[in-house]
Parts: sequence; C-alpha cells; structure tokens
Amino acid sequence: MTSSRMTDEKDKGTRIFCALDSADLDKVRALAQSIAGAVDGLKLGLEFFSARGPAGIRDIAQLGVPIFLDVKLHDIPNTVAGAIRSLATLAPYYLTLHAGGGAEMMRVARNTAHEEAARLSLTPPRLLAVTVLTSLDDNDLAQQGVSGTASAQVVRLAELARAAGIDGIVSSPREISAIRAACGEGFDIVVPGIRPGGSATGDQKRVMTPGEAVRAGASALVIGRPITAADDPAPAAMQIRQEIDAV
Ligand code: C5P
Repeated sequence: MTSSRMTDEKDKGTRIFCALDSADLDKVRALAQSIAGAVDGLKLGLEFFSARGPAGIRDIAQLGVPIFLDVKLHDIPNTVAGAIRSLATLAPYYLTLHAGGGAEMMRVARNTAHEEAARLSLTPPRLLAVTVLTSLDDNDLAQQGVSGTASAQVVRLAELARAAGIDGIVSSPREISAIRAACGEGFDIVVPGIRPGGSATGDQKRVMTPGEAVRAGASALVIGRPITAADDPAPAAMQIRQEIDAV
C-alpha cells in the first residue's frame, strides 16, 4: 500500500490535495500512484464520481491516500443525510456541501456524518462548505436577490457554516484573510486557484502562489494542473511542498 505524508508523519501544517479532474479511471489511478507519496491527499470531484461512482473512489482510496470527495451536496436536509450515509462507507477525509442549503441542512449533515461514522467505526469525514461559487460575481448575486458583494456573502455563509458545526470552507485565495478573521483558528480554509510562480494560470483568474496562500492562512491547498500536467508530477508536487515548508 502506498502511504501519504498525512498518514505517515504530518498532521499539521498546510496540506496539499491534488485535484484529479478526469473521468478516466486508468489515468487517475496512474497519476494517483505516481504522486501518492508527495501529497497529503487527492481530490476527486463530480467528473470522476459521475463516471466511476463509489467503486472508482474505492479503487483510488485503496492506495491509502486521504480522499477529498468534492461532490458539493445541496438538497433538503433529509436527502443530504441519506447521501451522507451512503458516502460515509467511502470514508473520505473531506466531503463538500453547499452552505446555501442552509443552517439546518448543514447541522443535519454534520450530525449524520458523525453518527454514521461511529456506527461503521470510521473516522467521520471533515465537512467543507462551498459558499459562493467563484464563477459568480456581484451581478450574478444581484440577479438572485442577494444584495452586497460576493465577498461579504462568502464571509456570511462561512460564519453560518461554522455555527452549524461544519469543519471548514472552500475559499478563493483572496477570501482567506477575511474568513480567518471571522471564523478563527480550528476552521479549515481549503484553497484552490494556486499557481507556483511561473506556471500557467489556465482558466484560473485570481491566483496565489503556494507561499502566499500559506502566509494568508490557508489550511490546505487544492492544486491540479501545476502537478497533473507537469512532465513529472511527483517532483512538481515536492517542489510545491518545499515552497510551503519554507514559509
Ligand atoms: O487545475 P487546477 O489547479 O486549476 O484545479 C483546481 C481544482 O479546484 C479543480 O478541481 C477545480 O474544480 C477546483 N475549484 C476551483 N475553484 C473553485 C472551487 C473549486 O478551481 N472556486
């Protein structure tokens, strides 16, 4: 079994989760095997889960790498609770849901995750709330009847999530400081949109380097293409690790 840094030696500091955005199981497995020892976990999202389902998640998880299951649950509390009971058997390290589902949905999600994990003798997943999708701007929110800025809405929803017992939040790099100030320590701020100096930004519009995100207070970084599209992914991940450790 391949081991990861998090299970081996490191349970503190800023973690690296590599986003494996593909529906191709062989490709994801090969990438996962090559970088498992160089990152703290792997993020599998809707593309992979829609194509490969729970069996695909189990296939990758058997490498022994913590899994960030990014399926962004959003429904009425009873339905989200049912989904969490089904997903709990996969024992993800992180599991995402939309804060827009409301305080009651998040409370039920948290309680269900803990109850089901206890019943299965598993560690409960850490639930992460998604606030305002970074594809939405102030105008999009105004169209939905949300007044004020997207940034203010992000902080409002982060505080709601924290009060509902959610473990952390997925945040754009530029919101890290405001969320940390509002929600304090002990709340995971997990940040995509990371680009090491000199790497291609691709479709990411607002990026930070790994070092900048750590200094701003990120708990974990989600990094995809700077690792997965590198000629040699494992050394690319190790280089990012060195940049983080040097902060
Ligand atoms: O390849 P890249 O480093 O841009 O991958 C970033 C990952 O984080 C992707 O899986 C993407 O879907 C996810 N993500 C993001 N921005 C958000 C939320 C999630 O890039 N606001």
